[in-house]
Amino acid sequence: MDSIVVKGGSALNGQIPIAGAKNACLTLMPATLLSDEPLTLTNAPRLSDIRTMTQLLQSLGAEVTSMQDGQVQAMSCHGDINTRAEYDIVRKMRASNLVLGPLLAREGHAEVSLPGGCAIGARPMDIHTDGLAKMGAEIELRDGYLHAKADGGKLKGAVIDFPFASVGATENIMMAATLAKGTTVVNNAAREPEIVDLATCLRAMGAQIDGDGTSSITIQGVDKLHGATHRVVTDRIELGTYMLAPAMCGGEVELLGGKIDLLAAFCEKLDAAGISVSETDKGLKVARKNGRIRAVDVTTEPFPGFPTDLQAQMMALLCTAEGTSVLEEKIFENRFMHAPELVRMGAEIDVHGGTATVTGVEKLKGAPVMATDLRASVSLILAGLAAEGETRVARVYHLDRGYEHVVRKLSGVGADIERIAGE
Ligand code: EPZ
Repeated sequence: MDSIVVKGGSALNGQIPIAGAKNACLTLMPATLLSDEPLTLTNAPRLSDIRTMTQLLQSLGAEVTSMQDGQVQAMSCHGDINTRAEYDIVRKMRASNLVLGPLLAREGHAEVSLPGGCAIGARPMDIHTDGLAKMGAEIELRDGYLHAKADGGKLKGAVIDFPFASVGATENIMMAATLAKGTTVVNNAAREPEIVDLATCLRAMGAQIDGDGTSSITIQGVDKLHGATHRVVTDRIELGTYMLAPAMCGGEVELLGGKIDLLAAFCEKLDAAGISVSETDKGLKVARKNGRIRAVDVTTEPFPGFPTDLQAQMMALLCTAEGTSVLEEKIFENRFMHAPELVRMGAEIDVHGGTATVTGVEKLKGAPVMATDLRASVSLILAGLAAEGETRVARVYHLDRGYEHVVRKLSGVGADIERIAGE
């Protein structure tokens, strides 16, 4: 397994290009199942999760061709469809469950393995299955697979009230509803930019969708969807991650393709912590204002609140802030695994349940640390960039799931960082 070695202390200056959003691409790709005409995605990120989704769609009978070094995913699904999503692929990536809605909409039945737990939480699918049941699907859990069948072979429109604004459930129901008979309304829907990006792509395919980006989405079912070409939206989580690099190390970095409206709540917290963010004609410019970072409190919430996917990275920043910060993780039940690793670097962090209290120290010290999940791994890289001495982050395969070319992007702005091939 590879490691990444970071030598801290350099200020960072220059530009970092931001890729297309992993979490948009992972829901846009299954949309190819909704039509027998080609769907092409441009600005796709080159990540191991995208390769896993490619494998899954190919196992279902879709043709997926990655072009231009993976930045273009050309897909088509005109042959017979296999409706069984096998455990050995699904267990690698929870987002595989996003084929459930499209398969039910296209074929009237599906067998999708439950993804199983993951490092950050149990991650059940009750909101997905309850919503599909309201649309006339009979769903039974048998031998680890969800066996789903649409009553009469076709889903029906329904009014669905979500108990929680689940991103994946909103995506599954929205895709399923595009071909249902009648109108579906999803209340308390997720409002993330990736939801809007999916709705934009589905409309380009001929779907009738209104209200995406608000808490209530209306989908009028149509008989057929046609092909389309869609550009994947900028990755707001990669954007926020790299905004923290100059914030922690000093210097000034321009994030190409960045837009404030993707991360308003996050930018408010950066401002309160003493970090300046300004819009340029190419993206966002970030620099630390004079003086030390100030402590701020953070609570993770569904969009437009502070994103849970930036909580670990924000904690890394607050480890050397002046004062005490309280971070509340309200979305996942086990998303502080980066805390003990940051403590190894000299941070002072107390974790009780879903609350972490961070007392700022002057400086972190480099140390060997272990990546545990995607966002925790990148928070350790950031901490290493700002620390004194050398930090070696082991098990960086987690990083490859969500961040393309980390070493190239950070060394391009002056970081002393290299990847060491594992034994
Ligand atoms: C998406 O996961 C993202 N993944 C996650 O990003 C992100 O953290 C999450 O949304 C929240 O923003 C992708 O888009 C591929 P949820 P998802 O359904 O859809 C509970 C990353 O690092 N829940 O909004 O799985 C669930 O257990 C990843 O890129 C139910 O209880 O998130 C969790 O506690 C990590 N029942 C909470 O809701 C359900 O049926 C949020 O889940 C569904 C969810």
